[in-house]
Amino acid sequence: MNILVSPSPTRLAFLARNISRHSTKPLNFNRFAALNNPPTRKFSSNTWYLNSSHSPRSRFPLNQAKSPGSKADEKEEGISFIDENISIEYPESDELPRTPIIQGRGGRHFKRTLAQFSLEESVTVVTGGASGIGLAISQGIVASGSHLAIVDMNRDEAHTQTEKLLEQFKRENPGIQRMPKVTSHFADVSNPSSVDHAIADIIAKQGKIDNLVTCAGFTENFSAITYPHDRMQKLWGVVVDGTYLFTAGVAKHLIQRQAAGNMVVIGSMSGAIVNVPQPQAPYNAAKAAVRHLAASLAVEWASHDIRVNCISPGYILTALTRKILEENAEFGDKWISLIPAGRVGSPEDLMGAVVFLLSDSAKYITGADLRVDGGYTLT
Ligand SMILES: NC(=O)c1ccc[n+]([C@@H]2O[C@H](COP(=O)([O-])OP(=O)(O)OC[C@H]3O[C@@H](n4cnc5c(N)ncnc54)[C@H](O)[C@@H]3O)[C@@H](O)[C@H]2O)c1
Repeated sequence: MNILVSPSPTRLAFLARNISRHSTKPLNFNRFAALNNPPTRKFSSNTWYLNSSHSPRSRFPLNQAKSPGSKADEKEEGISFIDENISIEYPESDELPRTPIIQGRGGRHFKRTLAQFSLEESVTVVTGGASGIGLAISQGIVASGSHLAIVDMNRDEAHTQTEKLLEQFKRENPGIQRMPKVTSHFADVSNPSSVDHAIADIIAKQGKIDNLVTCAGFTENFSAITYPHDRMQKLWGVVVDGTYLFTAGVAKHLIQRQAAGNMVVIGSMSGAIVNVPQPQAPYNAAKAAVRHLAASLAVEWASHDIRVNCISPGYILTALTRKILEENAEFGDKWISLIPAGRVGSPEDLMGAVVFLLSDSAKYITGADLRVDGGYTLT
């Protein structure tokens, strides 16, 4: 990751003023401690730049005459401001830091809980399961008794993480009689024939599919007028087409089998609000589409006993966001100042929410959007 231009003193002063006004809690970077292990891979090539000549102040210069409470005043000092000069490109998959396997969550326990939370004997597919949120969800699903098929475009990482997940499960469940079946599969979720091939491969290896979690996705930041068209198409291809193709493919299998099924699509709070200060209009629109796709499919497939729900996470500390925040602390300050819970979420925060929506405890919940965002969208 290269920071091409450091924030100017003017911009830092702007951020500090903005943050202190809206922050209710002291800022503490231990809140980013959710990922314990440092990334094992070299990380490079993300491009962030903050160009001081285009700072918000330059648009509303100090000597500009304006009455208190004017539109210009609001824009300059308010929190609802996008810096069009922030630009972040998603790295190639071999440049992404590896996600550490979560420890201490998958073992046997003797706490009483409802049996209907269990996913025992089902087969669950997680797209984008080789890293970040998808990998944590995958671990939660296996810990809840399901077999698992990880689908990812990063074939090697999917394979490696599958092995690590199983090793960890074995360590946490010594003497277990029946191990879960965990398989990895390649797919570019934006490509219809690749999706069809992956679904056929999963059914061949696992025998069936009962549940689906669509997690493959990425975000990039460019201002709307500079967003490269090919990057926008790629983003919508993965987030919107990818979600549609996988949900439709799995529904077809379930309907042919005359079997009930459960799906959770991973949206984002960005489908309901507009993040600041980074510009990301196409991502926000794509995640809004995903949320309404889930609602539409929930209605269309309700008579087939297929439930479709959406989870909209807030800021979640994956390896990538952690790296970004380590190098650009002012972004973390800004984000945290807007989260009532006072911290960025961790992938573990999504484990239980996904398991709940896939399980029989959510049998009468379909078409819902569950926000897991520390209250971000409430204020
Ligand atoms: N991290 C956050 O703050 C956050 C917040 C809200 C929503 N989300 C959403 O959660 C999901 C996962 O995000 P993450 O932060 O864990 O990212 P991540 O980069 O760690 O994981 C994404 C995974 O998707 C895979 N992938 C990307 N394109 C693919 C394609 N075309 N086909 C198959 N696999 C593909 C990647 O190889 C990677 O393994 C995304 O949909 C993201 O938009 C993330």
